[in-house]
Amino acid sequence: MPSKRVRVAIVGLGFGAEFIPIYQAHPDAEMYAICRRNRRELDECGDRFGIKTRHADFNELLKDPNVDAVHINSPIPDHAPQSLAALKAGKHVACTVPLGTSVEECRQLVEAQRKSGKVYMMMETVVYSREYLFARELYDRGVLGRIQFLRGSHQQDMDGWPDYWPGLPPMWYATHCVSPCLAILSQPGKPALAEHVSCYGSGRIREELIKRYDSPFAVETATFKVKDSDVAAEVTRSLFDVARQYRESFDVTGSRASFEWQQVEGEEPVLHFKGLPEPQIPRRVKVQDYAGRLPEPIRKFTGAIHDATHLSFVQGGGHGGSHPHLAHNFLMACLDRQPAFPDAPTSANWTMVGICAHQSALKGGDKVPLPQF
Ligand SMILES: NC(=O)c1ccc[n+]([C@@H]2O[C@H](COP(=O)([O-])OP(=O)(O)OC[C@H]3O[C@@H](n4cnc5c(N)ncnc54)[C@H](O)[C@@H]3O)[C@@H](O)[C@H]2O)c1
Repeated sequence: MPSKRVRVAIVGLGFGAEFIPIYQAHPDAEMYAICRRNRRELDECGDRFGIKTRHADFNELLKDPNVDAVHINSPIPDHAPQSLAALKAGKHVACTVPLGTSVEECRQLVEAQRKSGKVYMMMETVVYSREYLFARELYDRGVLGRIQFLRGSHQQDMDGWPDYWPGLPPMWYATHCVSPCLAILSQPGKPALAEHVSCYGSGRIREELIKRYDSPFAVETATFKVKDSDVAAEVTRSLFDVARQYRESFDVTGSRASFEWQQVEGEEPVLHFKGLPEPQIPRRVKVQDYAGRLPEPIRKFTGAIHDATHLSFVQGGGHGGSHPHLAHNFLMACLDRQPAFPDAPTSANWTMVGICAHQSALKGGDKVPLPQF
């Protein structure tokens, strides 16, 4: 087992900068380098966090032999090309969601990861959020009984966001609602995967938004079948011209109890128990913190990060306190102490549910099989 610390480089310093203090505090990491194209902003970030190694060019960063692992937080169209280049350069790769925007990118990524023998992990926040970890714990303890159905939603108003967002097909960014449905049915070494998907597009966004990706839908809503299981899941996405507070949610319908994510920020989730008199069936529950699963120096990062420029402000607690869990899991995978979750094939499957769902919506709801890698 390698004993050295993992030398991490972070690429993209908007959302990505939130991970810098976590790697700086982690006992098994060295927060070694940062990369962004704008030199002035790169230096500002480096000075603020005391990081000496700075690259304005991603390809130069990859030539640096001191970099063990890159954590990519660049715009969506760059995710797959940068992840592929980094794997080919012999680096471990963590990349924010989604893995890519086409089935072909997913195929190439899985192939490149296998060939390189390096770690690839898609940094999906929801499956390390306290709400997901709570539901998972209830399921593992038998409280929910048999899982009968799963539902996820992710609604967010992306008007005014950077240039790759306007008009993006909602299902191209579906991993936040797809991932918990598949993760909760996964066991170590045996990920639950989606088999086929059917999706309807609903409503219509403004004409100027439609042009960029030739995608007219205000809402896309899909059902998918879980492979080797009798469970189906339903996911709903919207990005433009829909009135809804930011919401990532995940509901588990069980035979004994069901878990429902809160409707709006600030509420508590609800558990419904079978066999009780009608008024007693639903009960609001306080979700506990899972910081105890982390090394002590990074536990504090599961708390609320009030950064008004980023989603963590509206979401609360750095996407459900997920950031330190993600960084920790990635580092442990780099050190070969535990597998990455999600690994490359699992990340590809979670991403392809959305890509294939959008294909289905364009064909009026046809059932689309997911390629299995
Ligand atoms: N919950 C989540 O998982 C979550 C939350 C927020 C953002 N994100 C994802 O993180 C990514 C970044 O989001 P953001 O809001 O910070 O975006 P942003 O556009 O504000 O920042 C992008 C960053 O990437 C840098 N960059 C762009 N091209 C680059 C290149 N070729 N080489 C090096 N650096 C480059 C930019 O300089 C900038 O620092 C997006 O893909 C977004 O989807 C995920």
